[in-house]
Amino acid sequence: MRPALNPFVLSLKESATLAINIKARKLRQRGETIYHYGFGQSPFPVPEPLVQALRDHAASKDYLPTRGLPELCEAVAKYYREEFGYSFEESHVVVGPGSKELIFETIYLMEGPLMIPAPSWVSYGPQAALRGKQILPIITKRENSYRLTPEELDRACHSLGQQQKTLIMNNPGNPTGAVYRDDELRELAEICRAYQVVVISDEIYAKIDFTDNGHSSLVDHYPEGTIVTGGISKSFAAGGYRLGVMLIPDTLEIIMHSLKAVVSETFSAVSAPIQFAALEGYANYDGVREFVETTNRIHRAASRYLHKRFIAMGLNCPLPEGAFYLFPDFGNYREKLRARGALTGRKMCEMLLDQAKVAVLPASDFYLPSTNLGVRVASVDYDGGKVLANWSDGIVDSEEAMRETFPNLAEGCDSLERFLEKL
Ligand SMILES: Cc1ncc(COP(=O)(O)O)c(C=O)c1O
Repeated sequence: MRPALNPFVLSLKESATLAINIKARKLRQRGETIYHYGFGQSPFPVPEPLVQALRDHAASKDYLPTRGLPELCEAVAKYYREEFGYSFEESHVVVGPGSKELIFETIYLMEGPLMIPAPSWVSYGPQAALRGKQILPIITKRENSYRLTPEELDRACHSLGQQQKTLIMNNPGNPTGAVYRDDELRELAEICRAYQVVVISDEIYAKIDFTDNGHSSLVDHYPEGTIVTGGISKSFAAGGYRLGVMLIPDTLEIIMHSLKAVVSETFSAVSAPIQFAALEGYANYDGVREFVETTNRIHRAASRYLHKRFIAMGLNCPLPEGAFYLFPDFGNYREKLRARGALTGRKMCEMLLDQAKVAVLPASDFYLPSTNLGVRVASVDYDGGKVLANWSDGIVDSEEAMRETFPNLAEGCDSLERFLEKL
């Protein structure tokens, strides 16, 4: 049978990150050594207070309110007020099965095109495509560490004329590890206000920030037009629990109203035991603070180590300042790669997997042109439980201790280095 399908769905393929994960896992299962830098999942165990709360609430079976457990919404708003200085209240919070689903539903209910700074996370574009929505990638510059500038945003907004404009911003950023400074966000906010842009500020990595300045957000400067998303997947290491949050200001009440309707007709509410587990993390944040801070320092050490190695092999790579990704560019090897038949980033990534056993994703999965030789590297290929149990900050001062702590990162770099030398 060949039933007719929604043409928007037919345009999609399996998410690039999931596909590379499956391929790398299969090769590993066949006994091959693979340095798996393709998939960005927190490597750490879920903090014990969340696991215990989940155990304690295993018997919770009632459907919860559409927006989420009221105590959880209250705790989430308080967490964002106290940890980041935002001014959200309980009534602004929606809980969903991952922030990915909440972002999708919000994109779905908005009219007009979606502006996506490039490079950006792989899923925003396909989510827009599912709604038949036009996307406008805004190409950012490596020299500016792939951070969007006010001029770039202005040009993009101007090109869209009178259409309603929505911008998705990810800070700290996947795939680059870029973190915006407060003064940069203030200027971007000015442009957003001028064009009445609706901003979805994806802050899932807000607590994985290596800068000394603390996390800043567009919501600080453009509160009337900014929706914030976050969740427990990254800093609470609980991606598989599938719980994310969205905070919508009163000025965008029409979005909140419609989102509640969409939620009630789709997933209804997040699983009750999972909401109680998340409540433990948000309501008693002090109980997990040390976990979040220590794992942040480990992420920092891992990404700084990779950065140092990439620079030493002649790759161009901005210093990551948050999240757990780097975006090295192989442009300095372009001619040698071309001579070996790798003109596009995708072809180069196939060569890297086949010959160097390193799994990474090409720039074209992140809205950049196919000949761009940037790749996304996730810096989490290590045993998080073991590293956390043995962590001491002094490790970063010793190459030997770093190699012992992050063997797959060190050996993957050795392998990449040999591959580049042989080109
Ligand atoms: C940039 C970004 N946004 C959102 C998500 C989705 O997170 P979740 O749906 O687990 O809340 C991810 C997860 O990989 C991500 O990297």
